Formats: sequence, C-alpha cells, structure tokens
Amino acid sequence: MYGKEIKKILVTREQIAKRVKELGEQITRDYAGEPLTLVCTLRGATLFFADLVREIRGDVEIDFIACSSYGAGTTSSGEVKMIKDLSSPIAGKNIIVVEDIIDTGTTLYYLKKLLEARNPKSLKVCSFLDKPSRRKVEFKGDYIGFEIENEYVVGYGLDYDQKMRNLPDVCVLAPEVYMGDLNKVL
Ligand code: IMP
Repeated sequence: MYGKEIKKILVTREQIAKRVKELGEQITRDYAGEPLTLVCTLRGATLFFADLVREIRGDVEIDFIACSSYGAGTTSSGEVKMIKDLSSPIAGKNIIVVEDIIDTGTTLYYLKKLLEARNPKSLKVCSFLDKPSRRKVEFKGDYIGFEIENEYVVGYGLDYDQKMRNLPDVCVLAPEVYMGDLNKVL
C-alpha cells in the first residue's frame, strides 16, 4: 500500500493502538486522583498525543510547545531553538511532556531543563519512540511506546522534510530518499 519511498512497515496501526492504550492506563494509574497537564511537542507528537490523551482517565489539561533541533533532512543540527512557548504557567503542576521520538536526546535534555526552571510539582517525559543507540546526551524517558533500532522512521506524526506525517503506520524510510537518489525511488 506504500510507495517505493517506504522500505518497510515497522510498527502497524494495530500495534500502535494497543501500546497507546497500555500507556494511557499506566499513566492513569500513576496519577490517580492527581490533576495532570500533558504538554504536546509540536509537530511530530500530535497524532500520538491526540490518541494518548483519550486513553487517560481523570483531570487532564493540555498545552503545546515547539522546539527544533533539525533542519531539513535526517540529522540533528545539535542546536535547539524554542519556536512556540506554552500558553499557561506550569508552577506547582504535574507535567508530562509528550514527544514523538528520543534520538540524540538533545531536544528533551534542553526542554526538560527549561521546564524544570519553572518549578512544576513533577515533570516526566513520555515518548512514543526511543532510539537509545543514537544518544549524544544522556537522557532517559519515563514512559516509552517502542524502542527501535537506528533507522529513520516516518508516519504517525513523524516526518521526512515535513512530509509523510499522515501515514497511519510507523514506516522505515528508504535510505535512497535521503541519500539523494530520489529519481530511483519516487
Ligand atoms: P533529538 O534532539 O536528537 O533527540 O531529536 C528529536 C527530534 O528529532 C524528534 O522530536 C524528531 O522530530 C526528530 N527525529 C529524530 N529521529 C527521527 C526519525 O527517525 N524520524 C523522524 N524524526 C526524527
């Protein structure tokens, strides 16, 4: 069903739905009776975020933040920029930052420090995917959907050059796409 730009499906929509439900149940149990603010990191986490919040029971608020460590392409620039800040203060609140993927760890290391300085009651990180073999900065997520190998993935919110976020499964991008041999595959 996908074109030549996709090497293979890595995580199917059914596997995603099952895991997101489990994460929602785990978070519901961990915060039982406590109000919780879920922070969505734009843009990659939006699809995961929308599914996850609906699997969490209890008193939940949502907010959005955008940082960027990537230019166009598949490698991090190593520089993190804040593009959009939260709409509300987080002092004294239970916060879970919801991210699409932990790769080098640079973005979340920066983001966590920035948010910790605002004195939340608690601050945890929930990432849909984790690529531990790619770490440049030591960082560990509190809730992880799937641990994956060192392959560039797209779909379910994750992009290549702002495209393919709408694919319903998590797919491995054909390396020819970012090796510049586009004519071969597209
Ligand atoms: P980090 O700062 O290197 O951990 O990078 C985190 C960001 O890089 C993620 O939020 C993604 O937007 C992007 N990223 C890293 N790996 C991938 C991938 O395999 N596919 C799509 N985006 C990725």
